Amino acid sequence: MTTAFGVRAVVSGIGAALPRRVVTNAELAAYLDTTDAWIRSRTGIASRRWVTAGTATADLAAAAGRRALACAGTDAVDAVVLATATPDHPVPATAPEVATRLGLSGVAAFDIAAVCSGFVYGLATAAGMLAGGDFRRVLLIGADTYSTIVDPKDRTTAVIFGDGAGAVVLRAGDAAESGALGPCDLGSDGRLADLGMIPAGGSRQRSANVTAVAEDHYFQMRGNDMYRNAVQRMSESAGRALERAGWTVADVDRFVPHQANARIATAVAERLGLTAGQPLSNIEHVGNTAAASIPLLLAQAHADGRLRPGDRALVAAFGSGATWGATTLVWPDLPADGEPDFDLTDGE
Ligand code: COA
Repeated sequence: MTTAFGVRAVVSGIGAALPRRVVTNAELAAYLDTTDAWIRSRTGIASRRWVTAGTATADLAAAAGRRALACAGTDAVDAVVLATATPDHPVPATAPEVATRLGLSGVAAFDIAAVCSGFVYGLATAAGMLAGGDFRRVLLIGADTYSTIVDPKDRTTAVIFGDGAGAVVLRAGDAAESGALGPCDLGSDGRLADLGMIPAGGSRQRSANVTAVAEDHYFQMRGNDMYRNAVQRMSESAGRALERAGWTVADVDRFVPHQANARIATAVAERLGLTAGQPLSNIEHVGNTAAASIPLLLAQAHADGRLRPGDRALVAAFGSGATWGATTLVWPDLPADGEPDFDLTDGE
């Protein structure tokens, strides 16, 4: 039985995974022209996790997905959707491999390329699939290994990004249920494509053979313009998502912003009129984990009690493209992980 709002996506499980290797600011300052003080004060980051050689996005994604399925108490979903900007290969998509590693060969599986907004785009996509009636459960994963695409010599990007994965199981349900996703606001502006881009390796500038500049294969960022656009677009998108949900700022218990930079998150919260205690953050110890940022933050906040059943959460993201998106969510009563430690374990 559904309400007048129709079938809604309901969160029924969450999980996350982090590589074990901790990279401190001091480690980066040993070979880059930067300091621990600069990185902390300009970004809020003290350390991040980076994969070691041999570990790829699918490894993190499968580990997070496995934990989300266990939390949901199911091993059966109808689709696996992976938001990532760092697929294991340019072709094919990484989601089918992740699905197979989870024992889900045969289900629909595809990647979403909306960079740091990918998880919110994935929520909207999964919600549509569930509302259409052809899918009853979707595993949505946000996973990225930016350490594999940042230029280790570029201090403007190397200090910001970390690797990780987060996942949710979404099932078809009712708007009145705890865990129900609200309306999603999504947007993009291709005129801002050069804010964050890997120039080579795609169809416009294909491979190292035809590219003179090695740097073109790394992620390049116009940090300052990215910063300004992130603050503006995330604030506007969050405002629209609130309006569509019929919420006001006073209804929000927790703000879950994409962890691009601690100062960006603070600026967006201030623009929205949120109080200092409302934004959740994990950037200090994981950096900007791109598409993994929001589900990883949700998983950690759920595990350590910062996010409680019934909390009304406002979620907002901005990413390269440019893309942005926001939505609302009432946090469900899920089994507590009990241990806010999502380190990859052997064999995952
Ligand atoms: N260490 C020390 N100095 C650094 C540095 C680093 N790691 N990175 C940049 N600088 C320098 C710059 O070269 C510049 O020096 P100058 O004044 O001599 O030219 C100075 O610091 C200020 O640079 P600016 O780019 O204005 O700094 P900022 O305060 O905007 O911080 C970012 C830079 C990248 C941290 C910030 O712009 C940012 O977070 N942008 C958004 C990133 C993002 O969200 N990316 C992912 C998309 S979701």
